[in-house]
Amino acid sequence: MGNARREDGRRDAGTWGNIVAMRILTVFGTRPEAIKMAPVIHACATAKVECAVCVTAQHREMLDQMLAVFGIRPDYDLNVMQENQSPLAVAARVMESLEPVISASKPDWLLVQGDTTSAFAAAFVAYHQRVRVGHVEAGLRTQDKWRPFPEEMNRRLISMLAEMNFAPTDRAAKSLLAEGVPGQKILVTGNTVVDALHAILQREPCYSDARLRSLSGRIVLVTAHRRENLGVPHICLAIRDILQKFPDVTAVFPVHPNPSVGETVERLLAKESRVLLTAPLAYPEFAHLMKRAALILSDSGGVQEEAPSVGTRVLVMRDVTERPEAVESGWARLVGASREEIVRRASEGLHRQSPNLPDAGPNPFGDGKAGERIVRALLG
Ligand code: UD1
Ligand code: UDP
Repeated sequence: MGNARREDGRRDAGTWGNIVAMRILTVFGTRPEAIKMAPVIHACATAKVECAVCVTAQHREMLDQMLAVFGIRPDYDLNVMQENQSPLAVAARVMESLEPVISASKPDWLLVQGDTTSAFAAAFVAYHQRVRVGHVEAGLRTQDKWRPFPEEMNRRLISMLAEMNFAPTDRAAKSLLAEGVPGQKILVTGNTVVDALHAILQREPCYSDARLRSLSGRIVLVTAHRRENLGVPHICLAIRDILQKFPDVTAVFPVHPNPSVGETVERLLAKESRVLLTAPLAYPEFAHLMKRAALILSDSGGVQEEAPSVGTRVLVMRDVTERPEAVESGWARLVGASREEIVRRASEGLHRQSPNLPDAGPNPFGDGKAGERIVRALLG
């Protein structure tokens, strides 16, 4: 391939010796984005594509934890996190501080992942600087602009800005087509979370919290952080009810560092003897716990996508999901925000559960090769 100069002094995509002359800038800021962008960054390294990493640090501690897990060293760090930040404040700080990074690094593509405020703000800045945007995990929709808020609007806006939409499933691709996104801008790749999970499950977990090593009996693993559930005690009260009904169960709850989550959880669960509250767990620890758990209660997006691969059912504590494939595959069930419904469905699951986990079968979200497909498409 030729190495034609561009008017702006950059080279066209082509091969210089072993290095592919295309510059990618990945921008992300939260725990799930780091997990889901890591396979793309690793695929770039394998394909010898130049890939710079800019973290917004919308999450600080949870992001750094995942960067360490995946051995990623950022080239740029916007360090925007503030306690109890609002999405608009995050967007403003990212927009202001990302512009000079893009000017300096002159990428051919800027990649964002998912539906966080970091992802939307980065895509918007790239658009203003006329840099092509690639959207990893494009096309997820609840069709309700307020649920989840503001994620549903973030991802819709990114779809309008993106030149390439990497849809995890056929359904996500169809949603994009229905909104008028041209077919040539959509590629179904699978979700990169499956790549990340496959890689991480091959590692031995190193339990940072000694209490996790000595757990006996059954585990119910819990996570909660969504704005719809903040400050609402129903999840904690449901956990208390479940423990009362099942004396062999311990609830393990890695608590999200959002102060609005911690306050309620501490107040209602800290004194319960069979509740193990922990700091956010490193991905290998958490992944192995998901596999070990009898049941997962969560409002997380990523956990719904991981449940089929670890063979553990998840009760989704939300009224709507943008991941209906998880429900259709039988690994997830929507239980909403009612204490009674959470307890009823959890009890059903814990009564029914055989000690041997069923064979997880294929994951509707992907086959573990999404990262490679994305990089190949960008090169193509
Ligand atoms: C964000 C995303 C959400 C994603 C979630 C993953 C938006 C609008 N929301 O929500 O889509 O599912 O991340 O977890 O982008 N905090 C820390 N340390 C950390 C991380 C957070 O102290 O490492 C605290 C800070 O006080 C921060 C607060 O948590 O202000 C909330 O973080 P924020 O990113 O605004 O919202 P999330 O609820 O985490
Ligand atoms: N996760 C983790 N440690 C934890 C809790 C979650 O590694 O203590 C992982 C989980 O396996 C999934 C991702 O974090 O891959 C989900 O992050 P989160 O729930 O914060 O965000 P969401 O997916 O809802 O956007």
